[in-house]
Amino acid sequence: MELSTDYPHLHPSARAWADEDAASRIRRVRADRWIGYARADTALAAFDDVLSFPKRTRMPNLLLVGQTNNGKTMIVEKFRRSHPPTAATDTADGVAHVPVLKIQMPAGPDERRFFGAILEELGMGQWHGGNLAGRQSDALRLMRMVDVRMLIIDELHNILSGARNQQRRLLNLLRWLGNELQIPLIGVGTVEALYAIRSDDQLASRFEPVPLPLWTEGAEYLRLLSTLEALLPLRKPSGLAGPVLAGTIFTRSEGVLGEIVAIIIRAAVEAISSGAEAITLRMIERSRFTSPSDRRRVEI
Ligand SMILES: Nc1ncnc2c1ncn2[C@@H]1O[C@H](COP(=O)(O)OP(=O)(O)OP(=O)(O)O)[C@@H](O)[C@H]1O
Ligand SMILES: [Mg+2]
Repeated sequence: MELSTDYPHLHPSARAWADEDAASRIRRVRADRWIGYARADTALAAFDDVLSFPKRTRMPNLLLVGQTNNGKTMIVEKFRRSHPPTAATDTADGVAHVPVLKIQMPAGPDERRFFGAILEELGMGQWHGGNLAGRQSDALRLMRMVDVRMLIIDELHNILSGARNQQRRLLNLLRWLGNELQIPLIGVGTVEALYAIRSDDQLASRFEPVPLPLWTEGAEYLRLLSTLEALLPLRKPSGLAGPVLAGTIFTRSEGVLGEIVAIIIRAAVEAISSGAEAITLRMIERSRFTSPSDRRRVEI
């Protein structure tokens, strides 16, 4: 058995894992991990910027827009982790502080569900029986009490799953909520969310889009492949950033971050379980990954 000081192709934090058995390495390969990249850093910096804004009547809002599976939720989760809540026992006023509150816009959205999602996130989900007025005032009171300084609304495009007048009401609600609490809102969603916001002139001028476009096959992409390779505990180097592997992975992923990561994870699992210990074209073939557009075509 090799010593864990070997494996120069791995990041130091991953070297010790390389001697583990196949099952535990596969578990590590499949676990979520954060890899930084320029667009994500730009988005995180923009979030930090609005978080540091002083309270005023017209707070800036942002809308993180990108195709599905392209890393939007990972970015807002990363941001939330860097601004974690403080427990009541650790604050001067003896009340928990939740600087960044993140909810998902419920599907089939209405105001009751929206405030229900906020109460749920603040650990008050049992108050679900309340009528709209009750939920609204409880949600606002709690948000003020725990000093929420930013509200992130993921899956904002779910607004569009409601009827037309329902959509209007929710858009009005967003406008009102930002004014009322004087906190920035961060919307997260697909381009449909952007259309929804733009259908309301006043909101359109308040939400600045932060785009998360599909990937291109450039230096940043190659860097992503190398970083990921160094974090996956395979015992041999794969050279993912080499032209053939990088090209193949890119074509199959159709430029979607989640697909790039998924192809590599599946091939890495194959590489471990087959004993090959490196990702090759054969491992990618054997992992039977189907591209997003083929997946849409699959008959069931
Ligand atoms: N920064 C990152 N580092 C490593 N992997 C990432 C990163 N961002 C995204 N991924 C991978 O891409 C997958 C999809 O990311 P995420 O769930 O954030 O996409 P999304 O844009 O929110 O998609 P949807 O619109 O469907 O909600 C993740 O499960 C993860 O495997
Ligand atoms: Mg998401």
